[in-house]
Amino acid sequence: MADWKIAGRMARIDPFYVMDLLARAKDLQARGRTVIHMEVGEPDFATAPLIVAAGKKALDAGYTGYTPATGIPELRRAISAHYKRRFGIEVPVERIIVTPGSSGALQLVLSVLIDPGTEVLMTDPGYPCNKNFVELVSGVPVCVPVNADTNYQFTADLIERWWREKTAAVMVASPSNPTGTLVEKTEMSRIYDTVKSRGGALIVDEIYQGLVYGRDPWSALELGDDLFVINSFSKYFGMTGWRLGWVVAPEPFVESMDILAQNIFLSCPSMSQYAALEAFNPSCLEVLEQRRMEFRRRRDFLLPALEDIGFGFPAIPEGAFYLYADSSKLTSDSFSFAYQLLEDQGVAVTPGRDFGTNNPQHHIRFAYTNSIDNMAEAVGRIKAFLDRQQQPSELK
Ligand SMILES: Cc1ncc(COP(=O)(O)O)c(C=O)c1O
Repeated sequence: MADWKIAGRMARIDPFYVMDLLARAKDLQARGRTVIHMEVGEPDFATAPLIVAAGKKALDAGYTGYTPATGIPELRRAISAHYKRRFGIEVPVERIIVTPGSSGALQLVLSVLIDPGTEVLMTDPGYPCNKNFVELVSGVPVCVPVNADTNYQFTADLIERWWREKTAAVMVASPSNPTGTLVEKTEMSRIYDTVKSRGGALIVDEIYQGLVYGRDPWSALELGDDLFVINSFSKYFGMTGWRLGWVVAPEPFVESMDILAQNIFLSCPSMSQYAALEAFNPSCLEVLEQRRMEFRRRRDFLLPALEDIGFGFPAIPEGAFYLYADSSKLTSDSFSFAYQLLEDQGVAVTPGRDFGTNNPQHHIRFAYTNSIDNMAEAVGRIKAFLDRQQQPSELK
């Protein structure tokens, strides 16, 4: 065996703990148990038929090769038109770079921004991959604990408090994963001004932007040109497996990002790009809006149902498809709770541990990416699990 050594950074890159739980859930299913999945962060709907048909048509037409690294011009134009139509914002096509999912966008942005040793502020709880992307470019992730008092989000004051000499960028996601909470537009504007005045870069992840309930969606691009805005075809557009997203970058960064995209991705999947053109077709948007309303119905069902059995929601989740429940009245160890719940009742949820170190033992993420009937069954099973735990041990 050669004397191979795995790079030191790998010791700082955490696994997704929920993947083990998912593997166990699949194992139980293979043995004939029914498992209700509420751990998965992707829509349970298949990609809309019009998009699928466009993908097939693209394959038949021979669109199977590389495309320009920044995406096919038609798609960049369609994204620009989408901003104009939906939000009334003019976004020059040249500033739009199509990427392999928003994951690709995050890697591009951090690679062009972060020098080794410089720091990136992000929320805890937050999307777990962000800190690993920062590690990949030898930056230093600084995870700032956020709680219900700020809607589990950054505020300009928090950023002021955590800003240090080496801080180079701030990452915000609205709506957020895992909490589904939003940053108010006025606060985002204060955040934008604060980061700008400190000479840093603001990165706003709008991957769940289309999935907002009871509010008009808006984009941080309305605030100005000096920020990076990331989006994706994965969630609202229901195309997780097609691996397609985009970033709107400030003009001075576009050339570097193009060069980097040429090197690390060459191109996004061409079939997916042609398929995504169809996503902005009004008939397709109608289907996506119906799906959004279905997510809203699910949230409106699940939140009170979980409250009834003892979970708490100190901040209102107004977007994405997640509820980040305070489970402190029910358990002091949400990690074991999630495993026992799976073994005992066949309900799969994600323990807080996957989203950071800020009180994870008291939180559980529920993804409402399942039907109301299945979720009603899941809530009944969780109640049975809790009732059993309260019984004297000889009756269990
Ligand atoms: C907040 C957030 N950002 C980015 C991603 C990456 O998604 P994708 O690469 O599929 O666009 C996810 C996926 O769950 C997410 O929750």
